[in-house]
Amino acid sequence: MRALKIGLVVVVAVLFVGHFLFPRPLAQTAEQRNSAPTADASSTALIERGKYLVERVAMCIDCHSPRTPTGEFDQKRWLQGSVLDFAPRHPIPNWTDVAPAIAGLPGYTEEEAIRLLETGIAPNGKPLRPPMPPYRMNREDARAVVAYLKSLGKR
Ligand code: HEC
Repeated sequence: MRALKIGLVVVVAVLFVGHFLFPRPLAQTAEQRNSAPTADASSTALIERGKYLVERVAMCIDCHSPRTPTGEFDQKRWLQGSVLDFAPRHPIPNWTDVAPAIAGLPGYTEEEAIRLLETGIAPNGKPLRPPMPPYRMNREDARAVVAYLKSLGKR
């Protein structure tokens, strides 16, 4: 019994002293463990993913980014709209040869743009004209693409 009491006193004393000796690191790790990622960190990750989808997967740049006279993408006018360099071999109804500016997504709310990429349908209820592909993205991908394109408007 006596040994138990002494044992308890020692444990309490160690915890007590430990608390005052190392309050900061302990407090910080507990905080870090519990805190969700900050809004900034998660929106940066979303924008990065959107950039990857736009530039590497869906290739929006191929149509929407203008090129210099020598054929490279014009870095200064990234995704600022372009006249297409190609035409259909056979007539395609409603074909349009201008891909408008999508940097900043002018005229679109986030939700409208997300819906467009999920359904292929524009806010006016109609599909966009070819050769704009009628994407059927999942919501996560559409959100990422829109976050990236919107971020280009804030430069
Ligand atoms: C093969 C060429 C092509 C590709 C690839 C392409 N687009 Fe388009 N996009 C177009 C054309 C052409 C239009 C114009 C359609 C119209 O006027 O009806 C358009 C229109 C749009 C519009 C409507 C713009 C407005 O002012 O109303 C948005 C938004 C858009 N594209 C986003 C994207 C995104 C995001 C991607 C990639 C995920 C993409 N496009 C890939 C050709 C393309």
